[in-house]
Amino acid sequence: MSIQIRQLHSCFAGEVSGVTLSQPLDSEAVAAIEAGMDRFGILVFRDQPLTDEQQMAFSRHFGELENARGGNIPVKPEDRRIQVGMNDVSNLDKDGKPLARDSRQRLFNIGNMLWHSDSSFRAIPAKYSLLSARIVNPTGGNTEFADMRAAYDALDSDLQAEIEDLVCEHSLMHSRGALGFPEFTDEERALFKPVLQRLVRVHPVTGRKSLYLSSHAGGILGMPTPEARILLRDLNEHATQPAFVHVHRWRLNDLIMWDNRQTMHRVRRYDDSQPRDVRRTTVAGTAMTVDQAA
Ligand code: OGA
Ligand code: MN
Repeated sequence: MSIQIRQLHSCFAGEVSGVTLSQPLDSEAVAAIEAGMDRFGILVFRDQPLTDEQQMAFSRHFGELENARGGNIPVKPEDRRIQVGMNDVSNLDKDGKPLARDSRQRLFNIGNMLWHSDSSFRAIPAKYSLLSARIVNPTGGNTEFADMRAAYDALDSDLQAEIEDLVCEHSLMHSRGALGFPEFTDEERALFKPVLQRLVRVHPVTGRKSLYLSSHAGGILGMPTPEARILLRDLNEHATQPAFVHVHRWRLNDLIMWDNRQTMHRVRRYDDSQPRDVRRTTVAGTAMTVDQAA
């Protein structure tokens, strides 16, 4: 079995063939996938039916799974639909029915429709995310990815120099606040306390620089807020031009894996009266971006 990767977009994104993710993988296959991630930023695997256990086992080849705590509004254990270790990104309640229109869980998850990088609101943000399609929604629900290395490379050199050492504040309260999400509880405020992230990241393996943007970013240290937010908006607009964006149209049993250190993503609107069951595992990062050598 030999792994092959076909490039899907002029800058990034690959479709992988020649591997069955539900089966144990040898170290050669894991190394080929990791090298593909470094190069392409996102990898698409088609026709990969997975159980939650198989998805977690595959994900663990690339590092430890991130502890999901603090990544969502707290859900009581008895209200969870899927086990701890899996992030529920679906629109479903524990009985498998679409969440009520005014459900806080649903309104919070709508935040995934803003461009973001997973866990940029954590002091040590995520390395990879892996999303598996268990039920595809009949209308909409494409996921879009932006190549933040290509976006960085295309900035003019004055702007690159201006932003080189900037540090942003990221919080779930900012991304959700931008959508008018209703009041946070004291518990949520404590959980969602802002963290610091460099605006320009260097990939630990390839050394390539990328813009580290996310809807969670709401300020820049040492800069008045309106000035920071307009700069972040401009950079987001630049980074999400079609030239840097790959659109994924889901099929049942697709698995997509993305590198949060060099890409952003968002899901588009879909028919919320119908189920969309997508389940995410997240591979934890290992370092704070503010500790990155300049
Ligand atoms: C995520 C996410 C996008 C989607 O799982 O991190 O943003 O397509 N999901 O549901
Ligand atoms: Mn996400």
